[in-house]
Amino acid sequence: ASSSRCEATKASFYNRKTVEIVDLDWDNLGFGVVPTDFMYVMKCSQKEIFTKGELVRYGPIELTPSSGVLNYGQGLFEGLKAYRKEDGSILLFRPYENALRMKMGAERMCMPAPTIEQFVDAIKFVVLANKRWIPPTGKGSLYIRPLLIGSGAILGLSPAPEYTFLVFVSPVGNYFKEGLAPISLVVENEHHRAAPGGTGGVKTIGNYASVLKAQKRAKENGYSDVLYLDSVHKKYLEEVSSCNIFIVKNKVISTPELKGTILPGITRKSIIDVARGLGYQVEERPLLVEELLDADEVFCTGTAVVVSPVGSITYLGRRVEYGDKGVGVVSQQLYSALTRLQMGLSEDKMGWTMLV
Ligand code: COI
Repeated sequence: ASSSRCEATKASFYNRKTVEIVDLDWDNLGFGVVPTDFMYVMKCSQKEIFTKGELVRYGPIELTPSSGVLNYGQGLFEGLKAYRKEDGSILLFRPYENALRMKMGAERMCMPAPTIEQFVDAIKFVVLANKRWIPPTGKGSLYIRPLLIGSGAILGLSPAPEYTFLVFVSPVGNYFKEGLAPISLVVENEHHRAAPGGTGGVKTIGNYASVLKAQKRAKENGYSDVLYLDSVHKKYLEEVSSCNIFIVKNKVISTPELKGTILPGITRKSIIDVARGLGYQVEERPLLVEELLDADEVFCTGTAVVVSPVGSITYLGRRVEYGDKGVGVVSQQLYSALTRLQMGLSEDKMGWTMLV
């Protein structure tokens, strides 16, 4: 391990000083895994705290078949992005928020979590070590995927005896195959994503496995993704499989309130503040599914999807269209305001961006 750490340290220094950028087809990046140079790994036992991690070569990890994550789904993940600026500097967007969310999720999943500083330092290390994989300005970003998993062996149901915090990265472009064009959603009537008292409000890996079936069916039927309703009344909007949802009506922007069943998105929270800063009234409240029928615009937010305009939603066989096949004015304005901030093109009055 110490020789790989040494190698990693040398390589990150090398990447920083000399290697500019890898030779990739930057114009055709989607949202897929591109293997990079290094990942960050830190381990601790159930009774300990995380102390020291290291950069190692990106690649398969060794995991016992009896690990808590493989058998009982004891795992969390995060997602954030690094952007390359024209002047070569690198910007992270609100990494402390991801660190905090992982800490809260870890409490819910009975796992020890890295401290906020450990989390942010790990992100910086891994981004610098993989600097040559950050897309050129305007071509995409480096998606950063922190994982916290129960890696220790367990057979009876209880928290695992050992935990691994791991961060890997991949250069990405647009999440949906539609690119920046409006996506089509279908309201899901059979399956639910979350229930009160469950784990819908934390970024546990199981939340994402349970949406695959409905998402698969939706894609087979030509939709981009699924919009979930609450599991109690089956009439309030919750979220899309991979992102939060907003509607715009008469210039008022609304999004479902956070009540434990909805993922507290960092882009969701940022868009609320950006919109208020631009003078919009923003409401966090229960949103009835019927409100989709006469909305002026609908859009989704997430780290991966950024701000994705919704072109149509189908509910009980009835299809409603928005934006006349184009991007709505409010969605476009919010997309531009957020991405300009993330890429360092506008003044960061909120102190959200961090130079690596
Ligand atoms: C993200 O937006 O970063 C997420 O974690 C969602 C994931 C399904 C890509």
